[in-house]
Amino acid sequence: MTIAVIGTGRMGSGFVRELVSRGADVVIGARDAAKAEALASELGAKVRVADVASAVQAADVVLVALPYGAIAGALQGLKGLAGKVVVDISNPITDDFQGLLLGTTTSAAEEIQAALPGARVVKAFNTIFSQLLPASAREGKSVQVFVAADDAAAKSQVQEVARTLGFEPVDAGPLRNSRFLEPVGGMNIHFGFFLGWGPSTAPAWVRA
Ligand SMILES: NC(=O)c1ccc[n+]([C@@H]2O[C@H](COP(=O)([O-])OP(=O)(O)OC[C@H]3O[C@@H](n4cnc5c(N)ncnc54)[C@H](OP(=O)(O)O)[C@@H]3O)[C@@H](O)[C@H]2O)c1
Repeated sequence: MTIAVIGTGRMGSGFVRELVSRGADVVIGARDAAKAEALASELGAKVRVADVASAVQAADVVLVALPYGAIAGALQGLKGLAGKVVVDISNPITDDFQGLLLGTTTSAAEEIQAALPGARVVKAFNTIFSQLLPASAREGKSVQVFVAADDAAAKSQVQEVARTLGFEPVDAGPLRNSRFLEPVGGMNIHFGFFLGWGPSTAPAWVRA
């Protein structure tokens, strides 16, 4: 499975580092080639660098690590998108991190799916802080990744990516359940940053 990671920020670079360390076939797609090259050279020859369109074209699974507002614009109209698994990890939060830009009757993931009709959008990882991407930050702990999608095969591929990274994937139902997952991501930000729990915080669903 070839995984494209779009974006080289906190989440993008974290995914690239962890996936490469597990021997995954990774291509970095970025608007700033210099940032992508710098990340790749830090990691050695196993990771390729491309523009966003070529990275999407090359991949089976596209992990999109861009701000919510940039995602549709960055991917819309790309030829390689048809049938592609696109993972939306975004939390569509306001600039002050205190609120959500949308919700209740829709979600970032549903809006992205509507903007990219040929793609198979999967919601995942929005409740995982970048600081928790390194397996070393989770030693001895099982950390859940909630995965919501309408396409069963796409969901299963993303669950496999989560497992590869050492997370516990949890089937969170259809894509429209992103309406519930995104507020959970917002609450996690409150626990992590405004309520003092710190960035190793992550939500878990338990059967008592
Ligand atoms: N940080 C977290 O702990 C966390 C946790 C869960 C979910 N998320 C979600 O993950 C996503 C990425 O967050 P982050 O913290 O990694 O952000 P970040 O560190 O600010 O990185 C954002 C990345 O997006 C790129 N970008 C911004 N606008 C773009 C555009 N119009 N076209 C192409 N690339 C663009 C930036 O490229 P340049 O470097 O060229 O500006 C950068 O590589 C967000 O949707 C966020 O809600 C973040």
